[in-house]
Amino acid sequence: MKYSIRTRLTSLITLVYFSVFLFLVIASALALYFGLTEEIDKKLKLERNQMVTIVESEFLGLVSASGVNHDSLRKEVLGELGELYGYKDQFVILSLDTPDGPQVFSNGGIREVRPLPPEGLLARDEGFYNQLFGTRFYRTFVTKHDWGTLVVAIEGQTFFEIADELKDILLVGLPLTLILVLLGGRFLAGLAMRPVVESAEATEKITLTNLSERLPEYAGEDEFGKLVATLNGMIARLEHGVNRVQQFTQDAAHELRTPLTSLRGELELAYQEKDLSAGVQAALQKALDKAILMSRIVENLMLLAQSDTGNYPIEKGTFRLDVLVKDAIYDMESLIDERPVAVRLLHCDEVELAADHQLIQRLVLNLCDNAVRFTRHGTISVALKADRVFVEFSIADTGPGIPQENLPHIFDRFYRADRARARPSGGTGLGLSICKWIVDAHGGEIQLSSELSKGTSVTVRLPLQGTR
Ligand SMILES: Nc1ncnc2c1ncn2[C@@H]1O[C@H](COP(=O)(O)OP(=O)(O)O)[C@@H](O)[C@H]1O
Ligand SMILES: [Mg+2]
Repeated sequence: MKYSIRTRLTSLITLVYFSVFLFLVIASALALYFGLTEEIDKKLKLERNQMVTIVESEFLGLVSASGVNHDSLRKEVLGELGELYGYKDQFVILSLDTPDGPQVFSNGGIREVRPLPPEGLLARDEGFYNQLFGTRFYRTFVTKHDWGTLVVAIEGQTFFEIADELKDILLVGLPLTLILVLLGGRFLAGLAMRPVVESAEATEKITLTNLSERLPEYAGEDEFGKLVATLNGMIARLEHGVNRVQQFTQDAAHELRTPLTSLRGELELAYQEKDLSAGVQAALQKALDKAILMSRIVENLMLLAQSDTGNYPIEKGTFRLDVLVKDAIYDMESLIDERPVAVRLLHCDEVELAADHQLIQRLVLNLCDNAVRFTRHGTISVALKADRVFVEFSIADTGPGIPQENLPHIFDRFYRADRARARPSGGTGLGLSICKWIVDAHGGEIQLSSELSKGTSVTVRLPLQGTR
């Protein structure tokens, strides 16, 4: 979709306005033209009748006369015509068939009309014509009689004058009203589309963790109100379903916890028995390792299930993050055993952090645990830097790195980049997703970058005062 509905509505409104406007202008121009023409034609008919009466009662002598008589009669006709048509917007052309051939008389108030008749006007068939004389339009009426041809004409300029004026108004008015309609239409379309935009924004904000929220109620009982109600109904059903699944996970993890703990206890007890054969002892050791891994998984699952339902009680307190990090480094060193791996603390600001102590500890330990478990040789570099608002914890190793195509999934649950390699190292695949949740819950950011056979580095940025 290239154009928004708002833009399309605005264009539509403008187009409709423009078409209606154009239609009205054309229709009124036509009505005006025909109305005015009809009016003039009526006048022309009266004029014609009058002229015919005058010609037939007074001028017919000319048709048969000649010589001196002819000249005086001619003067008389011209005088009469001058009297009748001395005014401006009319004229008459009279062609009388005399024994000396056709005699043409014309008169009217307009000078430029004088060299009449224009070629062919008298030769025309009977009827009404629009004729341009000089610069002005005349409506002419041609009629044929026994004694010759009569043309009466009235200036038909009114329509063109009105049209001219109208054109001026249109040239200014049309763009102006078009702009008004465009702006008004845009405003109205925006108003009409606002609930849609608002609902879309609200929908965008709804995720698995805040399914209890709903789209803003829409008062109207129109199609859009129905859509909002339908969407809200769907979100409610989703919420219900998701709650059930999350509750189930949480309950399952909880149920597994107790038997696992006692299993671990029993195994540890059995392991401490004095006279065990080496085979049994090795088997017990393996079983114990598995039990420990399982209880870790269960514990992580429980944590994530609680975070999903928003049930995890985040307790905010102040503590020294640099001390926590130093403790973690100490733990790391003891986990490295014989591997040629050096742990370096590159930078360590003294930092007071307001956050959930247990969760932050878990975050740091998870990241340290990954670095230690995956790094065979080289260095693990840790840094802790703080400014007034944020603290940045970073840990970089020279481990095997993570293939580029796996990076987008690295924070997914149970995701392990290389299962074959990761499994014996005792991971659960939940560590990084827990880290991500902890960082999110504290309003921070976590970034992981990695290059195959070069190493991995993770940076966590947290607000010193937390957000909750
Ligand atoms: N520092 C690291 N070096 C190499 N790979 C890593 C590192 N950290 C994480 N990974 C990869 O990311 C996967 C997911 O990590 P994580 O969620 O902590 O699970 P786990 O550590 O339990 O396997 C790991 O299985 C591993 O493939
Ligand atoms: Mg891990």
